[in-house]
Parts: sequence; C-alpha cells; structure tokens
Amino acid sequence: MAIERTLSIIKPDATERNITGLIVARLEGAGLRVVAQQRVWWKKKHAEEFYEMHKKRPFFDDLVKFMVSGPIVIQVLEGEDAIKKNREVMGATNPEEADAGTIRKDFAISLEKNSVHGSDTPENAKREIDLCFKKSEIVG
Ligand code: CMP
Repeated sequence: MAIERTLSIIKPDATERNITGLIVARLEGAGLRVVAQQRVWWKKKHAEEFYEMHKKRPFFDDLVKFMVSGPIVIQVLEGEDAIKKNREVMGATNPEEADAGTIRKDFAISLEKNSVHGSDTPENAKREIDLCFKKSEIVG
C-alpha cells in the first residue's frame, strides 16, 4: 500500500469542548502520523474557498458560518492508505450513521457539528493540503 498524505480538520465544536487531544490520539492510534499541524481561526474567505465544491449545496452558508465560528486545528496526516484510513477512523459524515468506535460516533454533536473533516480523494487531499500549508511546514 502507498504512503499517502491527507488533510484533516478538527472543527470548532471540538476545539470549543477542548477535545483536540482526544481526537489526535484516535488518529495516531489508527497509525496516522501528524506531519503538520496548526491552530487557526479562518476568515469567511478561507472557509468559502476550502469548501468551494459545496457552493451550490443548501447547507453551504451554514457550513461556512460554522467553520468561522471558532478556532480549528488543521493537520496533514501521513500513513499507509491515509485518505481511506482517516475516513474510517472519522466515521460517517452524519454521526447518527457512524459506526461504533469512530470519532464522529463518540464525539460529534450533529451533521454540521461533526468534529472532524478529512479529504475524500487523492486529488482533493492535494488541493486541500496545498490550500492550508506551505511545503516547508510539512515535516514527515
Ligand atoms: P465535511 O466532511 O467537513 O464536508 C462538508 C460538511 O458539510 C460535512 O462535513 C458536514 O459537516 C456539513 N454538512 C451539513 N449538512 C450536510 C448535508 N446535508 N450533507 C453533507 N454534509 C453536510
């Protein structure tokens, strides 16, 4: 299996509850390595650009509003099959549909306040990593 990198976000509902460490422990426990990490508070333009692919969806405005409502932790995760592995450990987007033992099942509050984001394809992982980090900030 190939070593991949993926973009992860610990969302405002999780920073507010001070559970970022609990989430990182889950990621590391799944064999993912944090090779870049920064706590930031996005401006509206950052959230709009990051979630551009959802621009036409009815939930877009609320999603942007939520993502700028507090600090977030952006990360690059590295590991074997990292994109799929991260999505497995996160669980389904809607916590009500997430499997037992996943981050979203255990920590998420709702479909919007679902604690974490993870890239879904290699193309999106590259785009999202490039949007969030300079090459020099990623240290494997
Ligand atoms: P995320 O993986 O960050 O990608 C887009 C986000 O939009 C998603 O997690 C959810 O938190 C949020 N969202 C809100 N409503 C919906 C919806 N109806 N379908 C999918 N995602 C939604």
